[in-house]
Amino acid sequence: MIIAIDGPAASGKGTLAKRLAAHYGLPHLDTGLLYRAVALTLLDQGRPLTDEGAALAAAKALDLSRFDEARLRGAAMGEAASVVSAFQPVRDALLDLQRRFAAQPGGAVLDGRDIGTVVCPGAEAKLFVTASAEERARRRHRELMEREGAADYEAILADIRRRDERDASRQVAPLRPAPDAVLLDTTALDADGAFRAALAVVERVRSRM
Ligand code: DC
Repeated sequence: MIIAIDGPAASGKGTLAKRLAAHYGLPHLDTGLLYRAVALTLLDQGRPLTDEGAALAAAKALDLSRFDEARLRGAAMGEAASVVSAFQPVRDALLDLQRRFAAQPGGAVLDGRDIGTVVCPGAEAKLFVTASAEERARRRHRELMEREGAADYEAILADIRRRDERDASRQVAPLRPAPDAVLLDTTALDADGAFRAALAVVERVRSRM
């Protein structure tokens, strides 16, 4: 069974994906890390994020195991990833890797922006996870405070709104729910409530398989 989880920045899709993967004993790929790693490669090379050729070369040579995950997950890298992810050749270069991951025997859980629409349109279970921009900013703020000891709520909210706008309005693979995705709004749910709701969706799919 392939479980595709899409949604905007800080919607909680990553946590949900991880918990669903653990529950079903499936491998999990956070596809945002791929775009973050491409962006980090450019920054480490001292190149601008708008250098499409360098971004493509980084995507083609990508080996996620070479990156420090804490660095990839930093707030600045999310914004940078959003820029390089708008290049179609970069997305194409990362497509094969994602599809191979999804094709593992037994299935997989992938989360991102275009898993249900582009990477795995045939996924058995598709969830589109959302929450209000303010609630997502509150969650991200809490997370950064715990991890880094400092965070600016207004800056986080502005970053989330900017990324929503860029990810949803880009020409290639824009952020949007697949027609057959189940929408899950977690604004009023805590992590356990969101997990129970997601599990119910997947269990419904499994009962029909
Ligand atoms: O999920 P995330 O915050 O780690 O993603 C970082 C950026 O990468 C996001 O703003 C857009 C891009 N991205 C994408 O375009 N497609 C994906 N499948 C995953 C992420």
